[in-house]
Amino acid sequence: MKTLVFSNHKGGVAKTTCAFNASVALAKLGFRVLGIDVDQQGNFSDSCGVDLEELEKTQRNALRMMLDDKSEFSDFTRPVRNRFDVIPCSLDDDAETLVSGLSVSRELRLKRKLVAARPNYDFCIIDTPPSLGIVTVNALAVSDLTIVPIQPSRYALLGLKQLLKKIAQVRDDLAPEMLVMALLTRFVERQTFDKAVHTEVVNRFGESLVFNVAIPKAVAIEEAAATKESVIETESESVGSFAFRKFAKEILEVIGYEEKQTQGTSRITR
Ligand SMILES: Nc1ncnc2c1ncn2[C@@H]1O[C@H](COP(=O)(O)OP(=O)(O)O)[C@@H](O)[C@H]1O
Ligand SMILES: [Mg+2]
Repeated sequence: MKTLVFSNHKGGVAKTTCAFNASVALAKLGFRVLGIDVDQQGNFSDSCGVDLEELEKTQRNALRMMLDDKSEFSDFTRPVRNRFDVIPCSLDDDAETLVSGLSVSRELRLKRKLVAARPNYDFCIIDTPPSLGIVTVNALAVSDLTIVPIQPSRYALLGLKQLLKKIAQVRDDLAPEMLVMALLTRFVERQTFDKAVHTEVVNRFGESLVFNVAIPKAVAIEEAAATKESVIETESESVGSFAFRKFAKEILEVIGYEEKQTQGTSRITR
């Protein structure tokens, strides 16, 4: 199992949208995907069709899972699509405070819990909150590939240095194999401004650490989100769908998984 973490301290840069669409795309390619929402806003869980009010009552969320020494990860999973399960999250400040207050290995709670999931899934895809607190650190600690979505805007790169520094700190301490890559989102190809941001992102990350595909700004992507679907499902021939499918294929290349022609339960080759 390889773990992808979508992280950016800014909100509204399409972390959740990209995490959800990548999950659907990889599951469609035949890979087994475990999505994890560690953002109390629960947007990823909502995209997956989870009832957030019910979840607030039962508290079967990813944060409680991190605190629970007795239960298995599988006690918290719910099916979303073929080959795609989710461990959801909703408002639960008390749980986050409890994780912060742990005196022993509080950064590694998620990593430890997920050891048992490794044989069951090819990908674990984690959507994080727009902050760099203890919960995000737990996600980064288990990350093989951290994807930083960047939406072109005047302030898109503000604070990027601090974000990358924090990610590098966690990598050095807890996840030495982690790769960090940028993904341009809500991108408008014909806008000179967006192109300038793209060039700047390439300068900062290095060309090989920026995904070739940029996710275009597209109404179809938003409309699909409104019905808790992926644009791949609602408008499979649209530019948005094409971009997310290309994104999934690039992920496979980076991770070193091979795409196979056969439709099996799993297409993992190494
Ligand atoms: N490529 C896109 N084109 C158009 N709208 C998008 C695109 N990606 C995301 N959005 C919209 O932008 C908003 C913020 O996206 P979201 O994924 O929730 O960001 P984050 O998780 O970083 O806060 C949502 O309303 C979403 O539907
Ligand atoms: Mg989000």
